[in-house]
Amino acid sequence: MHPSKRISGQRFLHSPGPTRVPEDVLNEMSRQPMDMGDPRLATMVAACEDGLRQVFRTRDADVFMYAANGHGAWEAAIVNLIAPGETVMVPGSGHFSETWAQHAEAFGAKVVRTPYRDGYPVDVAAIETALREDTGHVVTAVLVVHTDTASGMTSDIPAVRAAIDRAGHPALLVVDVVASLGASPFDMDGWGVNVALGASQKALMVPPGLSFMAVDARAMAVAAANPTPRVYWDWVRRKSEFIYRKFCGTPPQNLLMGLEAALALILEEGLDVVLARHDRTARAVRAAVQAWSTAGALRFFGEVPEARSASVTTVAVDPAAFDPEALRDATRERFQVAVAGGLGSLSGRAFRIGHLGDINPAMILGCLGAIEAGMTAQGVPFGQGGIAAAIAVLSEIDA
Ligand SMILES: Cc1ncc(COP(=O)(O)O)c(C=O)c1O
Repeated sequence: MHPSKRISGQRFLHSPGPTRVPEDVLNEMSRQPMDMGDPRLATMVAACEDGLRQVFRTRDADVFMYAANGHGAWEAAIVNLIAPGETVMVPGSGHFSETWAQHAEAFGAKVVRTPYRDGYPVDVAAIETALREDTGHVVTAVLVVHTDTASGMTSDIPAVRAAIDRAGHPALLVVDVVASLGASPFDMDGWGVNVALGASQKALMVPPGLSFMAVDARAMAVAAANPTPRVYWDWVRRKSEFIYRKFCGTPPQNLLMGLEAALALILEEGLDVVLARHDRTARAVRAAVQAWSTAGALRFFGEVPEARSASVTTVAVDPAAFDPEALRDATRERFQVAVAGGLGSLSGRAFRIGHLGDINPAMILGCLGAIEAGMTAQGVPFGQGGIAAAIAVLSEIDA
C-alpha cells in the first residue's frame, strides 16, 4: 500500500508515544529562540521545573532536563547512580525493563532480574524475596518501569516500595514514568520514590527530544559519591542557578517552550481531572476490546485487569486469524488512524492502542471506529457491540 501524502481532515495519532501535540503547544514552540542572558529564558526554565515538580508530585526534589529521549534519561540514572561493577535490580515488566537492564549492563553494572511473566506487572513478592536474600546489601538500586509500554501493564509502585521496606533493604527506588506520567496516578514524595524519570512525547504532549527527572536528596548524595566518569548527564554539575550549567550547554529552547505550554494545559485542566479523563478513556477502550475479543481472534494481552494501563492497551492477536501489521496499514492508510504494533517478542503478535495525552471522547470513538473499519476491511472476525460499550463508559455521569 502506498502512503498518500494528502488526506482530507485529520489523521489521528494513537500510538503510545509520540502522541498528538496540542495546537497551543505547537504555537508556543514556533517562537524565536532567546539570547542566553534573556531573563525570559530563566523564567521559562523555572516554570518547567516547577510544573514538573507538580506533575511528579514532589516538593523538594531537584529537577534535571535533558536534550535527549527516554533512553537518555535512563543513561543519566545509570551513570549518576551506579559505579561500574555495582549491582542493581531490574524487576521484569517486559520489553522496557529488559532494555533498561541491558543499558545498565553496557555500563558495567551487574543486574539482578526478577522473572517477567507475559501479561503481568512486576512480581512484588519476587522483589521482596531477592532483596531479603541480599543480606550484604549489594543491590544499590531497584530500577522499575511504572507502565511498560509494550505489555500495557502498570506496576504497583507503592507495593514495590513496601517490599523494599519490609526486606529492610536500603536500595534506592528509581522509577521510569515515561509512559505513565500525566496519565496514571504517581506520587514521588508520597510513595517514597528516590528518582523518577520521564520524557516529553507521551502524556506530556510535547514532541520527542526532551527528557527529565526528579532526584531526591538521598539519590543526590549517592551521585555525589559516585566516581563514574560523566559530564553531560552529571546531576552534581547541573545543579546550578546558571542556565548554561543546568543544561550542560545551550538548552533545547523550543522544546522547553512546548513543555511550559503543555504543563500549563495540564495544570489548568487540573492534574486529577487529567488522570480521571485518562481513566475513563482507557475504560472505554477496554470495553470495546472486551466486546471484540468474544470472536476469538484477539484478546487482552494483560492478564490482570486492574493492572491494565491508563495509557495504552495491548491487544494480542491470534496470528493464524490475522496479521496485525496489515490491520495497522489499513487503519492508517484507509481510515486515518495510526495505532502501534507489538514490540519485542510481541512483534507481529499484537497491536497497541495509545489513549494518552491530548485525547477527547470524539477522538477515541474515531479511533475505535477506525479499528473496527480496519478489521471489517481485513475480514478479521470480531465481536459486535464494541463502540456501543465504549459509548456507555464515555457517557457515564460523574458521581
Ligand atoms: C516506558 C518507557 N521507557 C523508556 C522508553 C524509551 O524512551 P525513548 O524512546 O524516548 O528513548 C520508552 C519508549 O517508548 C518507554 O515507553
